Amino acid sequence: MALIDDARLAFVRLYGGQPEACYQAPGRVNLIGEHTDYNDGFVLPAAIDYHTVIAGKRREDRRVTLVALDLNEARSDFDLDEPIEKDPRAAWSDYIRGVCKVLLSQGYRLTGADLVITGNVPQGAGLSSSASLEVVTARAMVGLSGEILDGTQAALVGQQAENQFVGCQCGIMDQLISARGQRGHAALIDCRTLETRRVPMPADAALVIINSNVKRGLVDSEYNQRRKQCEEAAQTLAVKALRDANMVQLEAMRFEMTEKVYRRARHVITENERTLLAADALANADWPTISRLMAESHESMRDDFEITVPPIDGLVEMIADTIGVNGGVRMTGGGFGGCVVALVPDAWVGAVLDVVQQRYQAEYDIAPNVYVCHPVDGAYPD
Ligand code: GLA
Repeated sequence: MALIDDARLAFVRLYGGQPEACYQAPGRVNLIGEHTDYNDGFVLPAAIDYHTVIAGKRREDRRVTLVALDLNEARSDFDLDEPIEKDPRAAWSDYIRGVCKVLLSQGYRLTGADLVITGNVPQGAGLSSSASLEVVTARAMVGLSGEILDGTQAALVGQQAENQFVGCQCGIMDQLISARGQRGHAALIDCRTLETRRVPMPADAALVIINSNVKRGLVDSEYNQRRKQCEEAAQTLAVKALRDANMVQLEAMRFEMTEKVYRRARHVITENERTLLAADALANADWPTISRLMAESHESMRDDFEITVPPIDGLVEMIADTIGVNGGVRMTGGGFGGCVVALVPDAWVGAVLDVVQQRYQAEYDIAPNVYVCHPVDGAYPD
């Protein structure tokens, strides 16, 4: 609630009147199923108790004015009646511009609006601060304009804004869980049909997220390149997407593709299998299986998909050594830095925090940030 209060107070101070409404959308952590979403595969994320918030009020004209509280009250504005372009002096506003552009192109009748934006999703950490901004923008702009949009549509609008306007070819996972996450649950999402299955988290489970604080460079270009390699593999296997392939098919065609493309495909095919198994293991609080599947997922990201970096591998190793089969740990998100997630019973949280504190900075000379989270509702709870 504190964030919403901040946004409301700031709105009054900056615009001289009460906002009409406040909206929020959470960040996310992915438990397993990495780089599977754009292969029409399966993911198992949860929305976390860190949010992006918008306080807003509709305007009589068609201008949209923005103030980003967390960026020293940086401002940006644009007109819904003019072509919407990126703002090179306020790149943060591109997510909002992109969402408005997509909504207009889909025929939503948007009104102008005054908006204040704030949030506490760590930025650039791989916890979907951008997806949460896209989803909350869709919800706010549509809500203030008196139009209707459901959670899945809001997620698709956010993804389209990111793909077509911002320029990252991301999949649907981040936006969908930010829109449709549910308290106390992870969601098994079929990224082809967008059907989601709620998977209850064990009552005593905690999500410990450790930000490696490794500076993430080249993320978008590496990401887009992985996506291309997956498409190439699917084409060689003559399937619509890697979701439709299995290891027998892949082995049969192994020498028709480069070793790199083969390994990328092997990651995706095995990761889909692990994700389906992990959903059941989680629902059954089967910690040893969760532990094994998350370990295998990490190895696959490290060796086959090649998206981890040494400090991340180091974090995973030190935590895995500490928790054994009592919980799981792996890198989470797009990769090349970012965060590690440990899924452990509450009783093990202290041990995870201790080992990270004792060893990470000493070994890698970077201070980590640690967040202990629980799954929360998305912006559009069912
Ligand atoms: C980023 C993208 C998602 C997904 C993950 C990797 O978070 O935005 O769509 O592809 O990377 O699993």
